[in-house]
Amino acid sequence: MASHLHTQSRFGMACLLAQVLAHGAGAQVSSALSASTRWDASEAAADAALPSMSFSDASRREQRAPASAAGSIRPRFSTDDRGRQVVSFEIPEGTSLYGTGENAGPLLRNGRVVEAWNTDAYGYREETRSLYQSHPWVLAVRADGTAFGVLADTTWRCEIDLSDGIRFAAEGPAYPVLVYEGATPQEVLKKLASDIGTIELPPLWALGYHQCRYSYYPESRVREIASLFRAKRIPCDVIWFDIDYMRGYRVFTFDSSHFPDPGALNADLHASGFRTIWMIDPGVKAEPGYSVFDSGSAGDHWVKRADGSVYNGEVWPGQCVFPDYTRPETMAWWAGLYKDFMAMGIDGVWNDMNEPAVFNVPSKTMPEDNVHRGGGLLSAGPHARYHNVYGMLMAKGTLQGIRDANPEKRPFVLTRANYIGGHRYAATWTGDNAAEWYDLENSIPMILNLGLSGQPFSGPDIGGFIGNGDGQQFARWMGIGSLLPFSRGHTGKGNRDKEPWAYDANVERSCRLALERRYRLIPYLYTLFEESSRNGLPVARPAFFADPSDPALRSEDDSFLLGESLLVVAKVTPLGDRMPVMPRGMWRPININDGATDADLPDLYLKGGSILPIGPIEQYVDERPLDPLTLYVSLDEGGTATGELYEDGGDGYGYREGKYLRTKYVATREGDLVRVRIGATSGAMPRQVRSVVVRVIRDDGSEAHAIGRDGETIVVDLAGGR
Ligand code: NOJ
Repeated sequence: MASHLHTQSRFGMACLLAQVLAHGAGAQVSSALSASTRWDASEAAADAALPSMSFSDASRREQRAPASAAGSIRPRFSTDDRGRQVVSFEIPEGTSLYGTGENAGPLLRNGRVVEAWNTDAYGYREETRSLYQSHPWVLAVRADGTAFGVLADTTWRCEIDLSDGIRFAAEGPAYPVLVYEGATPQEVLKKLASDIGTIELPPLWALGYHQCRYSYYPESRVREIASLFRAKRIPCDVIWFDIDYMRGYRVFTFDSSHFPDPGALNADLHASGFRTIWMIDPGVKAEPGYSVFDSGSAGDHWVKRADGSVYNGEVWPGQCVFPDYTRPETMAWWAGLYKDFMAMGIDGVWNDMNEPAVFNVPSKTMPEDNVHRGGGLLSAGPHARYHNVYGMLMAKGTLQGIRDANPEKRPFVLTRANYIGGHRYAATWTGDNAAEWYDLENSIPMILNLGLSGQPFSGPDIGGFIGNGDGQQFARWMGIGSLLPFSRGHTGKGNRDKEPWAYDANVERSCRLALERRYRLIPYLYTLFEESSRNGLPVARPAFFADPSDPALRSEDDSFLLGESLLVVAKVTPLGDRMPVMPRGMWRPININDGATDADLPDLYLKGGSILPIGPIEQYVDERPLDPLTLYVSLDEGGTATGELYEDGGDGYGYREGKYLRTKYVATREGDLVRVRIGATSGAMPRQVRSVVVRVIRDDGSEAHAIGRDGETIVVDLAGGR
């Protein structure tokens, strides 16, 4: 079938169609509102397209205007011998492909074939075709650094074949394809974000370190873990509660023998600066007399079989029923369950097993002909259509419940399954990895490709979920994981202890240094999260973002950037460390551990021309105010540098009413003197009275410093203090 443009005749677009054809461009239509160009297999296919579940506002995809210029990226539409709807794109030689969401293996995806089909992928390996999430999205960076991205806007099972160009083959009906073009990959991602939305600014505490295991119980063990963090002066913000806190794995219940008073436990943990996150799975034990089952049954909330009976599948508690999150009534019921739960003083929720995972069936999930009844925008449809968005809808309902319960606080949800656009509802982690060097190394490209697919808030199980690993591996993993956007140690049942002190004194020291470094970086990380919440750029970015036209950086995934300024060069092997390809230009090594070094921790480099704002070491993020503020300065060849700091209340929504402060610091050098001053500010939050330590990194790596008050010009003498 020839590629065929289209637009929506239901928007009275007959004349528009005529204009487009007169244009001679053949087929594309730009969105009136978004920065994308939409293509459909035919006019009939466009008219019949299912509503977008990736767009933050599904109606935006339907509001079309004629393309102002012929785009260079043209899809070909066809069907294959399995009846799948195929959309393919040729790519110019030298094009590097990224994205496709959560996948194992390297950053560069050329030559790979994966399948968007959310799967409980315990112990996944490079050849595993489907992991827990679905992102039918590819980012393409041409040899010259210009870029484009293509989104196959279907929720159905979709093969993404990058072995010869870009080829999507999806089950179900024909689907629209959105094409985004940009002078840089960053521009393409911003355009994507204008359609699929951005994360909401998380609470500051969610950027701290999280400690988890399957599972900490009874409560005396939880208290012991929490007090060991404080006694050993290892920073930590959050303790996690995996399924064993429940009574027989019944969601929204507590095992009273192990957790007699969860409210008091949460209150005590809060008093020592911890937050708590508790798990909720979708499978509800099918047991008359259990309140969640009874109320869900009364509301007819369960997914049905094709014959209309309620579907049962086995998960942790035995036979379970599954909420049909496509129904608005079910979403409202689900959200309502969180009211009493959150009232226990719970700070965040972990949604797991929501592919949905089902035990003891070859498909690992529910039958594809199960029925979701839909409602509102969503029509009734088979599980095959809704499978990939089941976890996203669950997370959306959970978010709603948390918000309703605590409207003044920023919510935090972690989900295992998700779909492109689902970053609007939840952060994520990369599921059940193994305590192997391969998985440690994979942590970086997995998080980078999630970031290149719209999800900036993710991290791996630090230390590996499956198996034990060894101390050096753990230290190196903590070194990397403490610099990724979501930083959580976790491990599976039966494994050795994996808290930062569980190996030996050397590993404990490495972990302390790694986490002290993260906590010092929190002001910078928060500034990056705030940027991401506005423009969709990832927090952790591939090294090639520093210079998209440099072919040498295209497959570099042992190093990564935090924002634009900080390059992290990780130790991903036990022995000889690979030499990373450094971006061109000036990158100065920087030590933010007061000079302490550790061979297992990543090396950090600050880009010439940048100012890095960091804070003091804290044991948890709101232990004390940001005082002193330290500004690390790496001048460019012209002797200047700039950097930005975003601050607000750290929780709540005051920032939406202007209660924030964004400061641009500027450094300029004249002779031996470097002057650092405020270049611009915005926001109505008063500047804190505080000290500022300016540290200028000299060309030989040594530092010159001066101390002053924030708001005043601070002068550093490069000739002094040697
Ligand atoms: C599977 C999750 O991936 C894992 O992180 C969790 O510990 C177990 N389920 C038990 O809840």
